[in-house]
This record gives sequence, structure tokens and C-alpha cells, in this order.
Amino acid sequence: MSNKRVEELRQRKENIRLGGGEKSIEKQHAKGKMTARERIEYLLDDGSFIEIDAFIEHRCTNFGMEKKKAPGEGVVTGYGTINGRLIYVFAQDFTVIGGSLGEMHAAKICKVQEMAIKVGAPLIGINDSGGARIQEGVDALFGYGNIFYNNTKASGVIPQISVIMGPCAGGAVYSPALTDFIFMVDNTSKMFITGPQVIKTVTGEEVSAEELGGAMTHNSTSGVAHFINNTEEETLDNIKTLLSFLPSNNLEDAPSFESQDDINRIEEKLNEIIPENPNKPYDMKDIISILGDNGEFLEVQPYYAQNIMTGFMRLNGRSVGIIANQPKVLAGCLDINASDKAARFIRTCDAFNIPLLTLVDVPGFLPGTGQEYGGIIRHGAKMLYAYSEATVPKVTVILRKAYGGAYIAMCSRHLKSDFVLAWPSAEIAVMGPEGAANIIFRKEIKNSEDAIKTRSEKIGEYRDTVANPYVAASRGYIDDVIEPQLTRPRIINAFDMLASKREEMPAKKHGNLPL
Ligand code: HXC
Repeated sequence: MSNKRVEELRQRKENIRLGGGEKSIEKQHAKGKMTARERIEYLLDDGSFIEIDAFIEHRCTNFGMEKKKAPGEGVVTGYGTINGRLIYVFAQDFTVIGGSLGEMHAAKICKVQEMAIKVGAPLIGINDSGGARIQEGVDALFGYGNIFYNNTKASGVIPQISVIMGPCAGGAVYSPALTDFIFMVDNTSKMFITGPQVIKTVTGEEVSAEELGGAMTHNSTSGVAHFINNTEEETLDNIKTLLSFLPSNNLEDAPSFESQDDINRIEEKLNEIIPENPNKPYDMKDIISILGDNGEFLEVQPYYAQNIMTGFMRLNGRSVGIIANQPKVLAGCLDINASDKAARFIRTCDAFNIPLLTLVDVPGFLPGTGQEYGGIIRHGAKMLYAYSEATVPKVTVILRKAYGGAYIAMCSRHLKSDFVLAWPSAEIAVMGPEGAANIIFRKEIKNSEDAIKTRSEKIGEYRDTVANPYVAASRGYIDDVIEPQLTRPRIINAFDMLASKREEMPAKKHGNLPL
């Protein structure tokens, strides 16, 4: 072949590689943002990225678009590896017409979505876009619709990870919302259905873009996002960590690693960690970090509904998803947001064959009109549903309180936990001893000469009789009461024993999760 043709190919590729050109790249860098190609290069193993569809062009002729070049169509797509594992990726290129999405831009994304589903490899989407390309009208909306459809088709088949590294506005937010995890970068990411100007026009409300849809808003208030990082580099590093806990698809197990931590590690500290006073809080994170291999814990949604903790650790080198009440926040009560957060996490783990460890210290569902009017009944039901339908190995440890409906909801034996352990400090009862004594001994307390003393005696009597692990253990609802210091070896042993668990639910089109 003549050198001229090879030269031409090189030149064409170089033009595409430059995206919107030097000036736009400088503008992007000035905002503290990498370009689409720099992001992909940082994320993937060196030299592993293979680009697809670099030559795609738009075919819009409205509003002078026929003269507007859009190298790469404003999105870079392809595949490569992260720590040696195949992944597919798309990164919107803001330097090209603001990364706006037209028909052909969408077609590039749809192609990698479909390839990822076919091959069974995770898809990472890096969003940085002004949204639907306004000149293209309904063709852009058609493109979004196809992406949403593919997101739904891929859901529960391959891990889908969305990264917001710039604007993501209007209906464009629904692609990330349909994926498994959303990462945002502090200060540079924005997500909203309607921006501050529209809100001001329609409702008169004034709000900054950051307050409305910035990374912390979605990590702490709305619960839309799962992770926040300070820089793009930190964000991309965090994605690599998350991927190390996930399988490539729903038919595989998550990768396992040689454990560097003693699987028989006994931790005397755990015997002392629960305060004598049952109303005193402690930090559940201290317990989680003691139990996992090398103290490693990747917390998911650490700023949202902090009364429940969700995240990943490894036990004997294998991925485990943890759900744990946090007594430090709202005494660890379950509320609407905690139920939604936990249910979603349980279903994510179950979809991807990641066993579940549940650590229980829950005084109940949060009382109040706010919760009832907000639909705690249907939101709380999601947890019951998610635990009941999960067929992965489920191990539960009851540390302290396990009261009422919340006891059942936190992966009790009754929702088919496979192995339930309790510490001697566990209190399993219909309600807390204080509340119970007030109701069932109301007359005795009222008629006694020293009501305070009688009440305290009756609380003690109730606790001794009912609120301990031994009644539940005598029914077989708890498999063993263990010394807290033995918890790590015992849960590792339980997950090893359950590794070949097989459980099938009745065939159905799909269940009807309360939403
Ligand atoms: C076409 C767009 C565009 C869009 C940006 N550009 N968004 N072109 N369609 N949606 C172009 C700009 O005209 C500009 O072109 C270049 O991209 C860079 O944009 P700037 O405005 O210079 O950048 P910046 O100042 O950083 O502002 C970024 C921005 C702003 C906040 C995103 O561009 C903006 O508000 N864009 C419109 C956002 C929007 O309303 N999108 C539609 C949302 S509705 P030149 O040639 O000047 O460099 C939607 C519906 C989806 O998406 C429905 C799915 C179901």
C-alpha cells in the first residue's frame, strides 16, 4: 500500500484525537478537568485501550450543522482492561460541541453497551455533556431512549458504572440513574432534571447549581450518587477499587485474592466493644474494620442515610457485601432512606453473586408522621423483599438490639438467612424492655408506692426473661451464640460452608417489588 494512504489514515486519526482542538482542550484543563481521552488513558491499563467507531460522523443538516465538524461525534468509545480484566468504556468529549448527544453519538454508546452485554464485561460511562444536541431535536431524544433501554437490558447482567465529570442535565441523568453505581467529583459534577434558571422561572426558587445538583447534594441529600471524590484521578482510582469487588457479569463470581490476613484472627477488643448501657451508642465502623481482611472496607453511600452502613469487604480474600445498622446515627433505627439504601445494595449484591453479611443493632423503625406520610410502610417493605428474594449466601450476626419488625427486616432467619449468630449482648424482642415494661406492667407500676423502682425492676425482669439471645436460640432462630472475639473466624467459616449454596425461587416473569 502506498505510504500516502497510510499517511492519510494517520492524519485522520490525529484530527479525531484532537477532539475540539487545542483551545477547547485548554478550556477543559482550566476547569480542572481531563479530556475524554486522558480519562480513559488514566483509567485503563497502559496501552490496552482499543477505540471503536472513531470515524463516526453526525448527519444533521439543521441550523448549519452540515458545516460543523464533530470529531469522534463528541464521545470516545471502546474497550480495554483494568487490572487485566476486560471492560467497555465510553467517555463524552466536552470539547466537541459540549459533548452534546445526537443520534450518532448515541449510536456509538449503544454499540459498546450491546457488546458489553454480549461479552459479559462491565461498562463504565464517563458523562460530561450539555445534554441532548439541541439542533438534532427528536433524533437526539431517540438516541437517549435507546441508551436507557440498553441500560435496563444490561441491569443485573453486567456491572454498569457511571461517572459524572461535568454537567449531566435534563433527561440525560436517567442513564446514570439506571446503572449500578454513580461516582461524582466534588465541585465539577452536576446532575439535575431542571437547572437553576428553569427552577427560578417556574417556581421563583433561587438555588446555585452546586447546591441543586453538586456531588455532595447527590451523595448526602438525594441519595442519587454512591461515591464522591475530590479529584478526577481519585475518582478513577476508586472505580478500580470498586471493580475489584465485582464479577464481570451475573454468571461469574467476584475475583478472589490470596488473603494476607489470618482467617483465625481472634479479636479480644470485640468482647468489650458494646457499652454496658444499652442506650449508649458506639461506632459500627470500628467493628466492620476489625472483621474484614486487613481492615479494608469500601463504604457505599457513606454520606447518605448514615443510620445504616453498606459496603464491601473481603473475608478470606472473597468479596462480601455488608449491611449494618449504625447506632451512632438515629440510634440505628430504620427509616425510609435507610430502607431504600439497604434494599438497593442487597439487590446489587444478589444480582452479582456477592454474599451478604448483616450486622444487627436495631431498635426498630423510626416513628413519626414524617415517616408514615412518606410511606415507610412501602419503603421498609423493600428491605424485607430484597432480603427474602436474595439467594446468595446470607450470614447474620446480632450484636445487640433486634426489636420487632426491624429484627425481621435485618436478615433474620425468618427471611431465610442461612446462618444466624448472636453475641451474648443480643436482645431479641418485640420491642425495647423500657417500652415493653410500660405497656405490660402499666398497672403494677401505677399502683406501686415507688413507681420508679418498680418500673426499673420490671424492665430488668423483661430483659432477663425475653430480651436475650437464648429464647431465640432455643427455637433455632439463632444457630449459635458466640463470644464476640471469635466473630471473624466464625463468619469466614460460615461463608466457606455456604460457598456451594444453591437456591431457586419459583419461576416468574419478575417479582413486584414495592416501589
Ligand atoms: C448543542 C451544545 C449543547 C447542546 C452545549 N453546547 N450544550 N450544543 N446542544 N445541548 C455547545 C455550546 O453551544 C458551545 O458551542 C459548546 O457546546 C460549549 O458549551 P459552552 O456553553 O461554551 O460551555 P459552558 O460555558 O461550560 O456551559 C456548559 C453548559 C451549557 C452549562 C452545559 O452549554 C448549557 O447550558 N448547555 C445547554 C444545556 C441544555 O439545556 N441541554 C439540553 C438539556 S435537555 P460553541 O460552538 O459555542 O463552542 C436534555 C433532554 C434529554 O438533555 C432528554 C432525554 C430523555
